[in-house]
Amino acid sequence: MKMDVLLGLQWGDEGKGKVVDYLAPKYHIVARFQGGPNAGHTLEFDGIKHVLHQIPSGIFRSNLKNIIGNGVVLDPVILKKEIEGLKKFNIDFSKNLFVSKKATIIVPTHKLLDAAYEKSKGDKKIGSTLKGIGPTYQDKIGRVALRVGDMLSPDFREKYNTLVERHLSILNYYAYDTSELTALETVFFEAIDFFKTLNLVESEFEVNLALSAGEKILAEGAQGSLLDIDFGSYPFVTSSNTMTSGACSGLGVAPSRIGEVFGIFKAYCTRVGSGPFPTELFDADGEAMRREGNEFGSTTGRPRRCGWIDLPALKYSIMINGVTQLFMMKADVLNIFEEIKICTHYQLADGTVIDRYSFESDAAEVTPVYKTMKGWHTSLAAVTSYEEFPQELREYVTYLEEELQVPIKMVSVGPDRKQTIIR
Ligand code: GDP
Ligand code: IMO
Ligand code: MG
Repeated sequence: MKMDVLLGLQWGDEGKGKVVDYLAPKYHIVARFQGGPNAGHTLEFDGIKHVLHQIPSGIFRSNLKNIIGNGVVLDPVILKKEIEGLKKFNIDFSKNLFVSKKATIIVPTHKLLDAAYEKSKGDKKIGSTLKGIGPTYQDKIGRVALRVGDMLSPDFREKYNTLVERHLSILNYYAYDTSELTALETVFFEAIDFFKTLNLVESEFEVNLALSAGEKILAEGAQGSLLDIDFGSYPFVTSSNTMTSGACSGLGVAPSRIGEVFGIFKAYCTRVGSGPFPTELFDADGEAMRREGNEFGSTTGRPRRCGWIDLPALKYSIMINGVTQLFMMKADVLNIFEEIKICTHYQLADGTVIDRYSFESDAAEVTPVYKTMKGWHTSLAAVTSYEEFPQELREYVTYLEEELQVPIKMVSVGPDRKQTIIR
């Protein structure tokens, strides 16, 4: 059996949570492989709306294991809150949730460092979610981080103190106020005690043995390919590999065991935080998209920047991920437009037209070159099958498919589980 991977192809918030929840009954295991509480994955069903940050989006389906893999950076305080927030759903966490002993722990000073680094960058700031993601991955790569398995060791407190000493000297350099640290530590150590009661496992064995036993696994990505540390719009990116290869290293699964790669994209584009966004709209159309799509961050509540779909960027994401199936989200948000624009190329300042999302397009101000299509300009609320789609929407899907050279197998027409059309 092979592991399927589901990931975002744009700048995050494509609707990954909805699709993982929708697909989960087909799988035995759903596993997160990177990122941390910077993610906000929204699920809607039976009139309930819930946002998950670190817990995989298979958690609402029974008889399914959810694994938080070694590639994730985990905030114990947020994890405890998330589990408490799910109490009303009667989920049996002893059966349904497993955490890798090799996942990295976010400590309170990581969040202070995140804020100190952002402050020091002034108007060049990344627009981080300030959850401590960057500083924690820095410590992981710097080989000084704490891992989940360390919590079980008798000298955990000592290891913690050594790490915090390092952090305090950096915070001192930035003259950053650390007066809230004692209060943060009290809550942190309470959360650590709670954390120790969860299933802490060698998740690389869990997933590989499950695959060998014929079980189906879905790897759930966080963020999006254009926020990838290597291939995204650096330095305005997150600090992990958000792409298919991240699922291999973040779960301990060999590339030869990857099956389908589901690429999720919005019918338009959004971005939260700083950084280049070629098709960004600053006009009434952008406002209308934000309003219609309720484009406000699931983690920070910040308004998301909105713009038309960007084909060079999507083609790039499809290439680096080896996407085998595309899922288009939030088609209904474009109902309001009489005309829909599609960015097919970028024009550089010297007039050159390029069709690649590249180092140059990322570094420079580029002008998008658009193709315009007629909008469907009608509600999709009653639509239950692809055949019932308005002609213009079908033409939009077909055009994208031809350009992207990967089949669009699913079109989402609303936030609810049920508002999902399979082709
Ligand atoms: P994720 O981070 O990729 O899981 O996406 P988010 O949950 O941060 O953001 C996606 C938002 O769009 C959430 O509020 C979803 O409930 C919502 N959503 C998902 N699919 C659709 C859709 O097809 N139409 C509409 N209108 N909203 C959707
Ligand atoms: P999901 O999984 C959208 C953005 C932040 C910022 C940059 C770096 O819900 O799609 P970080 O906190 O990682 O240091 O922030 O990345 N960002 C996201 N944007 N969706 C996300 O996750 C994001 N996670 C981080 O806004 O620009
Ligand atoms: Mg999100």
